[in-house]
Amino acid sequence: MSRKIVVTSALPYANGAIHIGHLVEYLQTDIWVRFQKLAGNECMYFCADDTHGTPVMIRARAEGITPEELINRVHSEHLGDFTGFGIEFNNYYSTHSEENRLFSEQLYKHAVDNDSISKRDIEQAFCESCDMWLPDRYIRGICPRCKAEDQYGDSCDMCSGTHQPTELIDPKCANCGASPVRKKSTHLFFKLADYGDRLKELIKNGYVQTSVMNKLDEWFSSGLRDWDISRDGPYFGFKIPGEENKFFYVWLDAPIGYMASCKNYCDKNGLDFETLWNSEEYELYHFIGKDIMYFHALFWPAMLISAKMKTANKLFVHGFLTVNGQKMSKSKGTFIKAATYLKHLDPEYLRYYYLSKLTGGVEDIDLSFEDFTAKINSDLVGKLANMASRSGPMLTKKLGAMLGKLDDEGRELIGKLQAAKESIMADFESLNYASASRQISGLADICNKYIDQKQPWTTIKTDEETTRTTLTVVINAVKILTIYLKAALPGYAEKIEQFLGVEPLTFADVETVLEDRKINKFVRLVERVDKEKVEAMVEESKEDIGVPQAEENQVEEVKLDEPLEPECTIEDVMKVDLRVAKVVSAELVEGANKLLHLELDLGALKKSVFAGIRKAYKPEDLVGKTVICVANLKPRQMKFGLSEGMILAAGPGGEEVFMLGIDEGAKPGMRVH
Ligand code: 2FM
Ligand code: ZN
Repeated sequence: MSRKIVVTSALPYANGAIHIGHLVEYLQTDIWVRFQKLAGNECMYFCADDTHGTPVMIRARAEGITPEELINRVHSEHLGDFTGFGIEFNNYYSTHSEENRLFSEQLYKHAVDNDSISKRDIEQAFCESCDMWLPDRYIRGICPRCKAEDQYGDSCDMCSGTHQPTELIDPKCANCGASPVRKKSTHLFFKLADYGDRLKELIKNGYVQTSVMNKLDEWFSSGLRDWDISRDGPYFGFKIPGEENKFFYVWLDAPIGYMASCKNYCDKNGLDFETLWNSEEYELYHFIGKDIMYFHALFWPAMLISAKMKTANKLFVHGFLTVNGQKMSKSKGTFIKAATYLKHLDPEYLRYYYLSKLTGGVEDIDLSFEDFTAKINSDLVGKLANMASRSGPMLTKKLGAMLGKLDDEGRELIGKLQAAKESIMADFESLNYASASRQISGLADICNKYIDQKQPWTTIKTDEETTRTTLTVVINAVKILTIYLKAALPGYAEKIEQFLGVEPLTFADVETVLEDRKINKFVRLVERVDKEKVEAMVEESKEDIGVPQAEENQVEEVKLDEPLEPECTIEDVMKVDLRVAKVVSAELVEGANKLLHLELDLGALKKSVFAGIRKAYKPEDLVGKTVICVANLKPRQMKFGLSEGMILAAGPGGEEVFMLGIDEGAKPGMRVH
């Protein structure tokens, strides 16, 4: 009997691009969903953008657009990225939807009716210049413990300590740099502790992998605390019914977005939402990262229990991605956006690589570019595609594209491949893709040995029919391995299906044999990974945070014994074209502590420059000032935009940076020496 399954992946925030770290989860889920369908089950996959909350508001303001405009644009960007990687949702929706508003209000009403909501005053940071309540991550200041500067409101990157935002020394709004004020307001809380016993029961019954149960035990034993589900306006989200200027916290309506996406799909396709989402007829699984377990293992099921709704059968929790053994880094170029990857490399490489790494556990996985290149080139190109390219062209060019029959030896080999089906399927089912890929690669080794031993390129000269038999065996092996890999490599599988002239393959086709039939012209399946393309992708991903005058690169302390830079000639110096420039506008740069964005008038041309002088100069004091600009500096793409020049300033750094002055009357564009 086939199963009916509904699956979700965590909803990505609508304030940023999809990157290869996100893709671990979407590819893990997509492979599982495709596997279920190939196994003959019904499996639906729902997702959406997570659109509400402070980061979306800030990003929209920084771009000078409305949150709605931002989330609409990001929605199509995200969908484009997912499609590019072959991720097939039944519906990719948005939490900013009527369905989601309705469900959020419904679940909240249930909680109110169950007496699961309480109210109390809390004090929070508010930035008067941004007119915004500041979450802990949006407050920065000096760590109360180790005194490191510029640390978040909740934790310190230097000493790894955690603290309250109130404990930070000299706190500042991370968005605008102003000092926030503390203000009291009434918040609504969901009484999580009331659901403790039912949540424990759920977890005892297999709601999470055993490896994450310990973490949950820790949370239970340290006591379940009330959950703050409201935010005061201004806030981009849903208004809380019956309250003045209060909105649901983004994390309240985010998981409800799973339901909203499913509901929207059901309505569009004439399906019954209650059956899909809320009945025992369908199994329900949420794929999530380990960082959002608290929300999915405690708050979310508690809200559903309060609303007397079904909870998921299981959470599938995965770890994070490291690249070359380290956290993804913008300066090293390893923070790779999905769109950047797609410009340089085949998406099926990454699908295959993640397949080979994912085990179904919560351990982090590492993408090492060396290993990535070696694995794709040896497994995918050298073993699997090689089998097809060693048999297909010979059959079509020399043997009239006709398959023959398997002989006894061939049947034995194919029998081995068929016998692995159950255990490969079990690996996919339990998310142990790494084990499945090892099994498949082992089978490919056996097949390649068979080809080496049979030497069809030699026998073709003397014995066409023996060669036909050999190649028929190989083609049948290719077919079976393609089925095993199809969930991970749908594009590759489609090419093979066309080449074999067969209908879309499923696991049911493992047992059938292709004999005495014509095949089609062979097309190349997959190219070797080109190291230069990997390098180009990394290069393009490097965000410029290291140019002179940029933040991070400021000289912070005076070093008297610094060695001199290599000599340069007078000719080198003369290449620098210095021009008088007038500052037309000067602005703070959102997210940068040391930069100002200047628009400069150089007479015939205008230049946009990012200068690391924020600590030394107030933007309003600069407008109208005459400065000296390196006008022929090659424009550099920085994190915050293109910097087309450099203004001359020098000093030890911080507040002590001084711009080179010139007569205020000097004409913009005039060359100076
Ligand atoms: O952590 C995140 O990226 C969240 N946007 C995930 C939300 S998952 C679900 F609950 F909506
Ligand atoms: Zn602010």
